[in-house]
Amino acid sequence: MIDKEHLNSNIPEHVAIIMDGNGRWAKKKGLFRAVGHENGTKAVKQAVEGSAEIGIKYLTLYAFSTENWNRPKLEVETLMKLLVSALKKEIKTLQKNNIRLNAIGNLEALPEKARKELLEVIENTKTNDRMTLTLALSYGSREELIKTIQEISNKVKNNVLSPHLINEAVINKHLYTKNLPDVDLLIRTSGEQRISNFLLWQIAYAELYFTEILWPDFKKSDLFEAIYNYQQRERRFGKTSEQLS
Ligand code: FPP
Repeated sequence: MIDKEHLNSNIPEHVAIIMDGNGRWAKKKGLFRAVGHENGTKAVKQAVEGSAEIGIKYLTLYAFSTENWNRPKLEVETLMKLLVSALKKEIKTLQKNNIRLNAIGNLEALPEKARKELLEVIENTKTNDRMTLTLALSYGSREELIKTIQEISNKVKNNVLSPHLINEAVINKHLYTKNLPDVDLLIRTSGEQRISNFLLWQIAYAELYFTEILWPDFKKSDLFEAIYNYQQRERRFGKTSEQLS
């Protein structure tokens, strides 16, 4: 088992996680999917606390995608209720650990109660500076890019921006993630190896890590193992090994 003592000082600044496998975890145990999601919130706590402990500055969790609205109504309601109860329960953990909450996605689409609770916790933790925890809620990367292109096009149309000045920094500034650095490490649980419309622009140079573990079983030690694996890799950003050394 990998413990945090096995890690060196090269801690990724921004870790993003696709939390997958709640449904399969429940099915394997003969339980309702909702129980899988409930236990998924325990894994969220493990990931958040573990990340803060080792000095990750930004942790981004894919909690609900734009496509997840197509799930059965009851499951969507359960997920929204879980979000509200987790926010109410865990605000103390966030404050105690000096963690700032942030959210990305089309928050307007969330039920009023969930949106209100979310914005309240974001407001109450806005001066915390040990780590930023971002929840991707009603998030889709293509939707984010469309919104970005629309906003930039409007600026061009209104002569506020000239097309030749559009560069990476300008695009970054219009994304939901405008206050976050690029992702260094993307983790996906449950054995699936795909990106599912998550942070397509922001993972351009991220290291990808896939594990068979189903999300509700994900523990701090599994996070540390992913970080250990990341630390064995050489990130070349298009350069050669020799250039780096
Ligand atoms: C994927 O499992 C998980 C989700 C769609 C939701 C993630 C939500 C939580 C972990 C709980 C609430 C979150 C917070 C931030 C409090 P799946 O249902 O797709 O699993 P399956 O692929 O096995 O069916």
